[in-house]
This record gives sequence, C-alpha cells and structure tokens, in this order.
Amino acid sequence: MRKKIEFLVIGSGIAGLTYALKVAEAGKVLIVTKSKADETATKYAQGGIAAVMYTPDTYNKHIEDTLIAGDFLSDEKIVRMTITESTKRVKELIEWGTKFDRNENGEFNLGKEGGHSENRVLHHKDSTGLEIERALLDKIIHHPNIEIWENHFTIDIITQHHLGEVVKRSSKNIRCFGAYVLDPKTGQVHTVLAKKTMLATGGIGNLYQSTTNPEIATGDGIAMVYRAKGMVEKMEFIQFHPTSLYNPGEKPAFLISEAVRGFGGILKTAEGVSFMEKYDSRGSLAPRDIVARAIDNELKVSGDNCVYLDCRHLNANSLILNFPKIYAKCLSIGINITKEMIPVVPSAHYSCGGIKVDEFGRSSIANLYASGECSSTGLHGANRLASNSLLESIVFSHSASLDALKDYDSIPYEQQVPDWNAEGAVLNEEMILITQSTKELQSIMSNYVGIVRSNLRLTRALDRLKIIYRETEDLYEKSIISVEICELRNLINVAHLVLKMALQRKESRGLHYSIDYPPKKQ
Ligand code: FAD
Ligand code: SIN
Repeated sequence: MRKKIEFLVIGSGIAGLTYALKVAEAGKVLIVTKSKADETATKYAQGGIAAVMYTPDTYNKHIEDTLIAGDFLSDEKIVRMTITESTKRVKELIEWGTKFDRNENGEFNLGKEGGHSENRVLHHKDSTGLEIERALLDKIIHHPNIEIWENHFTIDIITQHHLGEVVKRSSKNIRCFGAYVLDPKTGQVHTVLAKKTMLATGGIGNLYQSTTNPEIATGDGIAMVYRAKGMVEKMEFIQFHPTSLYNPGEKPAFLISEAVRGFGGILKTAEGVSFMEKYDSRGSLAPRDIVARAIDNELKVSGDNCVYLDCRHLNANSLILNFPKIYAKCLSIGINITKEMIPVVPSAHYSCGGIKVDEFGRSSIANLYASGECSSTGLHGANRLASNSLLESIVFSHSASLDALKDYDSIPYEQQVPDWNAEGAVLNEEMILITQSTKELQSIMSNYVGIVRSNLRLTRALDRLKIIYRETEDLYEKSIISVEICELRNLINVAHLVLKMALQRKESRGLHYSIDYPPKKQ
C-alpha cells in the first residue's frame, strides 16, 4: 500500500500522542505504533511529572536542581525553556482529562524524588503514566483527524538515500519523506509518504538483561536516524534506576518508585544498616547516578544479590494509600512492605541521549522531528533528574507542533520514493539465531557497559559487538523482513553508538563513570 498523510507520528506514548493532538487541529495524522497503542514506557511511569506549581517552589529552584543532577552538562537555555513551560503544559494535560492526586484543600499533592529540593512531582498514586496514557488515548480515539495503526512496525524513515542519492553523515541537506512500515500480520511493507514525520519511539532499555522498560524499548527511532546519517548524541549516559524489585527472571523488572524514598523509605544493607550517608549528604534521596553507583559498590563489597528499601517505620495506611500498586505487587511475591524490607537492585531505566534536536524538536534531518525519550534535547545533561522525562516530552511535542504547523502545507510529497524492495529475501527460519544474538548482546552490555566502566571493558564489548553486527547484517540481507530481525539490528546500532560515545568521553561525568578517569575531588 502507498499512503499519503500530512503528519506521520511514530509512537503512541506521551510524546507521540501530545504532538498528534496538536497537529491534528490542522491536518490529517497517522500514528503508527508497534504494539497495542497503550503498550509504552509512558504507561509504566510511577513517580509522576515534575512541574513548578506553588510557592515555595520556583522555576529557578527546579532549574538549579536539573543542572546539578545533570552534572552541569545540560544546555542551560533548554533547561530554562522546559522548566518555565512546565506549569502551562501540565495544566494542558489536566484540561485533556488527566487526574492528578489532590489534598483535602483541593491543592495538588506534590511528591518528592531524588535531587529535587522541593515537593514538585504531580502524580496519580503510583500509576501516573497509566492515567496520562488513558486520558490522551481517550481524546485521540475520538479525534476525527487521527488514525492509528496498531501492531505496525516502522522499519526505516525514508530519505534521499532511498532515491539512490549519496548523502554525508550529519549533512544539512538530508530530508525525510515518510517511512516504510511493516504489517507483521501480512508481511506487507507500506510506503507512507508524509509532509512532516515525528519520531516518538521511546527508549533503549532492552539493550540490557535487566530493565524497567517494556519490550517495545529497542531504540528503533535512534537507529533509524543513525542509518539515515542524522545526528545522535550523548548515548553514553544511560540511567540505571537504583531501585527495581529484586525478583530474578522477571521481565521487565518491576520498579519501586523513587517516590517511595521521597516518602521516607531508606536504603539499607541486608543487616539493616543505612548506607547512603557514606556516599552523599542527601542520603537515599541523592540523584540517581550517585545512588545507583553506591548500591553497585555495596553489592560488590558484600557479595549480596540486593540491597533493601526499608519502609517499616512509615505509617502503614498512608504507605498503602499512596503506593497501592507497589504494595500489591510486593505482596504478590510474599513481601508485606509495611512489615518487611523490599529487596532492590539497579536496572537499566532511561536513555539521556538520543536523536539530537533543537528547541523545536527539529532533528538534523529536514521535516523530521523527535520528542520524548528517543530525543536528546539538552535538558538532562549527564544524568536526568527524576520525573523530568514526562515533562520534557510534553514541552518538546508542543514546540515541535508549533514548528510543524508553520510550513507543512507548502511541503510537497516526494513522488519518486520507490516501494520497499524485498528482493533476495529467502530465509525465514532464523528465529533461534536472532534470540541467541539478542541474549549475547544483552550480556555484553550488562557485563561491560554497566554502571561502572573502563576502557578495557568498553573495548572488549566493541570487539564482541563487531561479530554480532556482521552476522546480523548478513542475516538481515537474506531474511524475510520481520520485527525480530529489525529490532535486533536496531539494538546493535544503538549499542555501537553507546560504546563509541562512551569511549570518546575521557572523563567520569554523571552516569558515565569510568575507573580510568576518577572524578576530580570537589
Ligand atoms: P514511550 O512511552 O516508550 O512510547 C514509545 C512508542 O513508540 C510506543 O508506542 C512504541 O510502540 C512505539 N515504537 C517504538 N518503536 C517503534 C517502531 N519501530 N515502529 C512503530 N512504533 C514504534 N519518567 C518520568 O518523568 N516520571 C516517572 O514517574 C517515570 N517513571 C517511569 C517508570 C518506568 C517503569 C519506566 C520504564 C519509565 C519511567 N519514566 C518516568 C520514564 C518515562 O516513562 C519515559 O521516558 C517516557 O514515558 C517516554 O515516553 P515516549 O513517548 O518518549 O516513549
Ligand atoms: C520513579 O518513579 O522512580 C521513576 C521516576 C522517573 O524515572 O523519572
């Protein structure tokens, strides 16, 4: 099938949906999403969304907290823009039907998380993402200008490359004409021509054996832009959430929200000794990079499998009221969090880097935007402040929509785009090879490119990766196209970017910690 659409949106999380709602006021929108529409990282968000709502909080305090958490690698102009937009954009989410918890006076019940100097996290108990996704999808489904293709997989964005032109990496002249989209049920690849394309494809957690991310998080958008020779940056900064539930074999790892620590939970060793004070004066509420490294160190020293989050001293009723999902989940595996400590370990959680964009979400490729976790806006620097991700998505999807609406009408559809060429594809019994290579890749990343790195481990990982890369490219050339081979290929592209950028960074900063570059004493 060949389809023409004014606005193509790839991804149905908070970034894709908020952008779609805005541009749909002017033109026709197609949202392509590789699973069910609500199967996104957004749906799993627990803690909430950071925004400045009341005094004593101020924009300047939130800006300062963001810069400190990011180890001063953030773009200050972008931080200022994002934070000063926070109140307006959150109010818009509320107008669209999202319900955040309020206290008896009707004011928002603002939570606190690591690195925040004030209570500023709006939430819906411990299921904030589920509530946001519900409200947005409710509006989307009833919008006359929006069509959704669920269970459709975007293979690649279309650029001049597909017209046979050779373009240089990061060249300013690359243009996006739409995307090739696979319907896995029929095996057909559709050519979708668009005036404006938005990549909102989420994160990369499945590069690792243990991640809080759902299965969809395979870095597809980032890999597509890299293959199209667009700009990708800061991929070395991968955030490990300090407290995922230690429950071996569970995928994705269940998150124990940082908001639990904001509520008074304390990290302890198996012997019940609080340890974070040894590492940072902010204790259990230090920024994530510091807490995850501290836990990593404690585990290496003790040889234990996990540390613990102690909530036993907290008011049991309030704890259950505020964290019903976490309470129920722990109880389901035999842990009553009001009486027992919760076993926790760090897990891959968030990619701070991604597709390089400007303040309007514009990538280096013309007519291609990126928003949400797949993008690198400059907000997070070397480490994201908790609950700034949902915020970043709504701010940049808004600014991207303003930019896209300015000139979309004058952009012609590129008629010369060829349909997908499946010539030469014969193999369709490669599943075991794909599964095995994915496991190998995850093992390499988990063992050599984790919380603590070194040049030796990174180089070893790169050498191993080269072998899997060659094997997979060969398989891809011969295979009948499938979601599984495409996702593996994307993960390998992203792993390459993480390794390349990690090796290029000759310092320890934020989430990138290398024993070869000990941090300078403050
Ligand atoms: P997602 O919500 O992940 O959506 C990505 C979409 O892209 C999906 O629809 C997917 O199907 C689609 N897609 C991907 N590839 C393709 C393809 N090739 N073809 C078609 N479709 C594709 N952040 C906060 O700020 N506060 C929190 O409290 C918080 N809690 C979190 C808890 C958990 C457990 C996790 C995993 C993350 C949490 N985060 C939190 C991070 C935050 O949820 C995500 O960064 C954010 O939701 C990303 O939104 P997104 O729209 O960019 O991507
Ligand atoms: C959490 O609830 O701990 C996750 C918050 C985030 O990732 O921002």
